[in-house]
Amino acid sequence: MPRFDDADFGVDAAPAAGARSPRDRGSLAGSLPIPNDAGNTVEIPATRSSISDAAQFMHNLSISPSTRDRRGSRNSFGTSLPIPRSPRVSRLSSVVTAGGASRDLLASQVQDMSKEKVAAAKNMAFAFDIDGVLAHGNEPIEEAKEALKMLNGDNELGIKIPYILLTNGGGKTETARCQQLSEVLDSPISTDQFIQSHTPMQALAEYYDTVLVCGGEGQKIREVAENYGFKNVVHPKDILAWDPTVSPWRCFSEEDRAEAKPRDFSKIKFDAILVFADSRDYATDMQLVMDLLLAEDGKMLTRAKDPVASRIPVYFSQGDLVFPTDHKGPPRLTQGAFRISIEAQYKAITGVDLERVVYGKPERATYTYADEVLRSWMEQIHNENRLPQNIYMVGDNPASDICGGNMYGWNTCLVRTGVFQGGDNDDNNPANFGVFPNVLEAVKTAVRKELGQEFKFKWNPKVNPVLHGDSASAIE
Ligand code: G3P
Ligand code: MG
Repeated sequence: MPRFDDADFGVDAAPAAGARSPRDRGSLAGSLPIPNDAGNTVEIPATRSSISDAAQFMHNLSISPSTRDRRGSRNSFGTSLPIPRSPRVSRLSSVVTAGGASRDLLASQVQDMSKEKVAAAKNMAFAFDIDGVLAHGNEPIEEAKEALKMLNGDNELGIKIPYILLTNGGGKTETARCQQLSEVLDSPISTDQFIQSHTPMQALAEYYDTVLVCGGEGQKIREVAENYGFKNVVHPKDILAWDPTVSPWRCFSEEDRAEAKPRDFSKIKFDAILVFADSRDYATDMQLVMDLLLAEDGKMLTRAKDPVASRIPVYFSQGDLVFPTDHKGPPRLTQGAFRISIEAQYKAITGVDLERVVYGKPERATYTYADEVLRSWMEQIHNENRLPQNIYMVGDNPASDICGGNMYGWNTCLVRTGVFQGGDNDDNNPANFGVFPNVLEAVKTAVRKELGQEFKFKWNPKVNPVLHGDSASAIE
């Protein structure tokens, strides 16, 4: 199994603790600053290094070593991440119509006269990241709305150019998230074209029955795990409702208690821990995850003599360290930060490196699953069960979207509406198709490459295919 050392992340080993004074800032770059130079203090030399020792546990999903230097992900069970053999069956009506029956009829006549362009349109596809590409939280990125409308058929052929949404977000059911996104983006989004970080993790239901599931708003994640087929889903609030003292710094409201499903957890043996989304109660979630990692074979409140031999597995749905939100300042911390904290705590307590599995972009399993979703989406919209050859990943995070797309052999487009705010391209994970101000520019450039520079991004409702033929079927 590949292992990482400090050199992989561009950090030096922590210096030995010494008697350096934080006041010696001039000569000691990197020393901790002190608030002021008050003369009535005594400086006691630190006995521990001020340099965090968590750096060695950060892996490639978090701090983006270059693709060149990548040696693969570090996953607990060999290197395998189970994904479902085929995409799940939709719980939504997935037939997306761009403009009604008469338009579809007219469009099919136009398409009959532009066979080459039609073939090219069906031979390309987009995989869109959501946060920082299509939206910031629940605020749409305006250019994204236009891009989706164009791909849904508002183009000179009236044709649907296939696209899927591939996000490291999560925390609620695919159905709920697609309904929300359809409103935010003003375009119908089907669950059949949608993958969130934990979607492929439904495969784990075949391996584990009793799972602790963490993350997300309220207790929505319970429904997600139950829909995936996990037989016995435990939410951290269930454990708090059984014994609130398990987490001294808990957040636990009356509403939480009303929704919780307490049981006698002293009698329950957990099979696995699943972190599906960002924690809303770090104190409780960290405590319970640590409790179970340290327990004897997943038995709550026990402590194993050998924490490695009897440790149950822990899975994280994605590894992003930061993500763009509606906050005006720098990107905010996300699940990767939570995971690194758990890794550091585990190492500090046991002296042993935590082995764990991380799904989500840029993990290969997620892209492999995306292929299957795209293939079946092609069947739905074009009645062709095949994968388009020219796939474009549009993302804002070089370390996940672009890195994963590059490794998977897709075309990659980096946009400036999210995490990436750098220069010409990202140094470590450069987008191979280019950097664009926003998703609309990326989409237009890719479509023009595949369908011709003159391709029109607007459907012309007055088109008469018999009169206009192949050349003048749309307006600008
Ligand atoms: O928590 C990170 C997640 O929200 C990122 O989502 O759509 O940028 O992959 P996305
Ligand atoms: Mg993003």
